[in-house]
Amino acid sequence: MSTREGSGGPVLRVAVIGCGGIAMSQHGPAYQKLAGVEIVAGSDVSAERAAAFAARFGGRAYTDYREMLARERPMIVDVCTPEDQHVEPTVAALEAGADVLCEKIMAHTLAGGRAMVAAAARTGRFLGIDYNYRFFPIFQELKRQLTAGELGELALLTVAAHAFCFHHAIDLLRWLGGPVEAVSGQYTATVDPRYHYRVQCPDFVYVPSRNASLVLRFASGALGVISASRFEDLHARMLRVEAVGEKGRLTADGITIDDIIGRLVRWPGGEEVPFFAGAERGFNVAFERSIQAFIERVRGAETDAATGEDGYAVLEIEHALVRANAEGRVIPLPLTDAGGAAAQEDGQ
Ligand SMILES: NC(=O)c1ccc[n+]([C@@H]2O[C@H](COP(=O)([O-])OP(=O)(O)OC[C@H]3O[C@@H](n4cnc5c(N)ncnc54)[C@H](O)[C@@H]3O)[C@@H](O)[C@H]2O)c1
Repeated sequence: MSTREGSGGPVLRVAVIGCGGIAMSQHGPAYQKLAGVEIVAGSDVSAERAAAFAARFGGRAYTDYREMLARERPMIVDVCTPEDQHVEPTVAALEAGADVLCEKIMAHTLAGGRAMVAAAARTGRFLGIDYNYRFFPIFQELKRQLTAGELGELALLTVAAHAFCFHHAIDLLRWLGGPVEAVSGQYTATVDPRYHYRVQCPDFVYVPSRNASLVLRFASGALGVISASRFEDLHARMLRVEAVGEKGRLTADGITIDDIIGRLVRWPGGEEVPFFAGAERGFNVAFERSIQAFIERVRGAETDAATGEDGYAVLEIEHALVRANAEGRVIPLPLTDAGGAAAQEDGQ
């Protein structure tokens, strides 16, 4: 088997399914920067997009991912199709023997998410979900501070976010605050269709058009609050995260889609907390580090890469919000009846 200098192992042969916006702008370039990986195929229902991906990043172009899996036998498959097209390619790639990185939101239904987790368990392959906000340098430092007990007993994790960051914020708070025991919340949609996200997920709000506010109760007794709206401006603010503990408050702010580095400030003193960010400030930093963490995880290292189980835990919280809103009550987790709107996907 061939090796590439600096990788410390065999070259990982990567195939991408879904060669649209995020594959071209973020995933392809991120793999190109990594030692020890090689892009061997790009597959898209659009022949033009598959060809453009292969021309730019290497490998062969396919319009049928099943043919691609059979011919190329890739070791890694990266699923970058739209949200309602994740389940089938992910399950097929796992069954073809690949470790899979799937873009978020893991699946458009609860049942789809369960089918993906079950396929990973059945095949013994690793399933990762690209919750890349974990890898913003500012959130790595916030996690380090919380883990080190710098705030003492944690009381609150609070997020104000653009709607596109809502599901990322759920993953982020689980990662920062630990297991979630209960969910409550409400949301409303705007009548203006311009704010409605192009992909609708029957079991989830996913991208709140007008507003969503969610309260998480962590097993620790701390509470998490996430409020999001599509009326926010990603160029003015993606999200602000605050952690309040008995010894003070940490505020992560100043984060935009153009510059994800931001400022971490500790209160009540108001001093800025330094952290290592590197030279780059763009959103690409998060994709590069997330994909690197996934690859290192495949190679056997412990990393912060989100797993299929993490992805499914976000789906449960998303679905609990729908139920909380409909039923006007606090929904305990894990869901005891996790049927959802499309339970047929895994035969339930
Ligand atoms: N992690 C992040 O921060 C982040 C940011 C943006 C987008 N995303 C995610 O990336 C995914 C893709 O988003 P995008 O903006 O690139 O979408 P896109 O529409 O630009 O690209 C999707 C591509 O998939 C192709 N496709 C559709 N169905 C297919 C199928 N069954 N088989 C093969 N190809 C198929 C389409 O032809 C298209 O080229 C979504 O899940 C989205 O949520 C993640």
